[in-house]
Amino acid sequence: MKINNTIIVYASRHGTTAEYAKKLMKLLDGNVDLCSLDERGKSMPDMSFYDTIVIGGSIHYGKNSKLIVSFVKNNIDLLITRRLGLFVTSYYDGERALQQLSSAYPKELLNRAVVADFFDGELLYQKLNFFEKIVAKVVLKAEELDPIIEKLKVIEFAEKLNQ
Ligand SMILES: Cc1cc2nc3c(=O)[nH]c(=O)nc-3n(C[C@H](O)[C@H](O)[C@H](O)COP(=O)(O)O)c2cc1C
Repeated sequence: MKINNTIIVYASRHGTTAEYAKKLMKLLDGNVDLCSLDERGKSMPDMSFYDTIVIGGSIHYGKNSKLIVSFVKNNIDLLITRRLGLFVTSYYDGERALQQLSSAYPKELLNRAVVADFFDGELLYQKLNFFEKIVAKVVLKAEELDPIIEKLKVIEFAEKLNQ
């Protein structure tokens, strides 16, 4: 039986998306590689090797990470031929998070993805700069949000890709 090769490509400003990527790596079947766009720069692995490609970014000011947006743009022809898992981390949930997710990736990928979801984006205050701390505190208080790392949704996400 052929072993499924998966790569998780992610970008993470303060570490939360990286944490989800690492959790997924443990939960997915087959060979799983991690690829941090923050660290890899232009020396990327050959994406055509992988049957399944998981892409994860974080939402800041309503938008997905720029590194993820350009990775997706540059690889779209290959991505539409692969099994896809797409996710974002965000402090909003519900309808607002779905809206952000739907503009974080091109429709053609979202429609084809085996699974696409948002995960609660905790805020690692010690890693935020002064301005980011103020923005985060104001929004969280105004919207009564309390984002914490969630395990169940990640497990469900992995289960869908493992089927
Ligand atoms: C300055 C700032 C702006 C943010 N803007 C948004 C936003 O517009 N929508 C949202 O859902 N989450 C927003 N977040 C929450 C981040 O998406 C969340 O903390 C995420 O987990 C960060 O992941 P990372 O550390 O991997 O980059 C913001 C966080 C910060 C610090």
